[in-house]
Amino acid sequence: MTLPKLEMQTGPAKTTRGRVFSGARPTGRQHLGNYLGAIKNYVALQDEYQCVYSIVDLHALTTMELTKGLRENTFDMALDWLAAGIRPDENIIFIQSHVPQVTELHTILSMVTPLGKLTDLPTFKEKVRQQPHNVNYGLVGYPVLMAADILLYHADAVPVGDDQRQHLELTRDVAQRFNHLFGETFTIPEAMIPLSGGRVMGLDDPTVKMSKSETSSEYHAVYLLDPPDRARKKIMRAVTDSGRDISFSNDPERAGVNNLLEIYEALTGKSRSEIEAHFAAARGYGDLKSEVADVVIAALEPIQQRYREITGAQDYVDSVLAKGAERAGAIAQSTLDAVRDKMGFMKAYS
Ligand code: TRP
Repeated sequence: MTLPKLEMQTGPAKTTRGRVFSGARPTGRQHLGNYLGAIKNYVALQDEYQCVYSIVDLHALTTMELTKGLRENTFDMALDWLAAGIRPDENIIFIQSHVPQVTELHTILSMVTPLGKLTDLPTFKEKVRQQPHNVNYGLVGYPVLMAADILLYHADAVPVGDDQRQHLELTRDVAQRFNHLFGETFTIPEAMIPLSGGRVMGLDDPTVKMSKSETSSEYHAVYLLDPPDRARKKIMRAVTDSGRDISFSNDPERAGVNNLLEIYEALTGKSRSEIEAHFAAARGYGDLKSEVADVVIAALEPIQQRYREITGAQDYVDSVLAKGAERAGAIAQSTLDAVRDKMGFMKAYS
């Protein structure tokens, strides 16, 4: 296959479509949890919006863990996004730190953000509990940097997990406050919270969210690039319970079966009652696992195919990211020019 040229399609169709912005921290190779929680949704949104997707490497710095292998993790994540079907020609995919205007906007927005709002956030309190030895200044400002991302690109809508809802609220508050103080400048973004498929649990431990963690076993997560036999093996080994009832439930004892059913639901798009009726005749959890493995493998197949095409095209990812930063940079600079002008900064000598 010949990978297409990266030319931005502009014109009236784009401006009426609205813009989506989302960001994710660079975690390297992507797994089923990343796919069903975010990427699948990112891909679908491309049909309706102009999408700006950012790998937020500056945000990674608040968790120093994530800076291990930062460069590879950033690149691998971009590659997996492209393989999963993000289309860079009509949209923008870029690395956050490649457009440094976000840091200037962060500084400016930090002056209109009450500190108490940041320290009251449950996400902040949770981090303080997790890393009491490393409560840095940037950690408190994390949501302001996120607000700067969103506002810099004039996003109309932001697809995020439920855990980010309050950050979106803060973004709206800050934007409104700025607009009120200095005149209409920012678009007020709406949150888009996915209805299901948002939270895939670990296959080896269905009480924790599927994540890339050095402490988890090799049966914890299915990666997008896992060959079919490996993916199947992981699913067949998934922890369940000693019963045999195949139905959705909130019972923590039955979290394993519920997780498998939710994966099946997200990938097939079938209704819960259809799914339960379908598995009513199953002989046990083995049948469920085997069918879940089938749909997972079928979903991974085109991703792995595209991955092979991309990795075969030399420098393709680099050219996508370079073009993405250029396009994002143009939008960012024009927003920042407007911000500086509204606030009455003296014009820079150029
Ligand atoms: N805070 C988000 C997270 O931890 C990542 C993020 C950074 C983001 N900037 C963003 C999400 C802008 C949406 C929009 O998952």
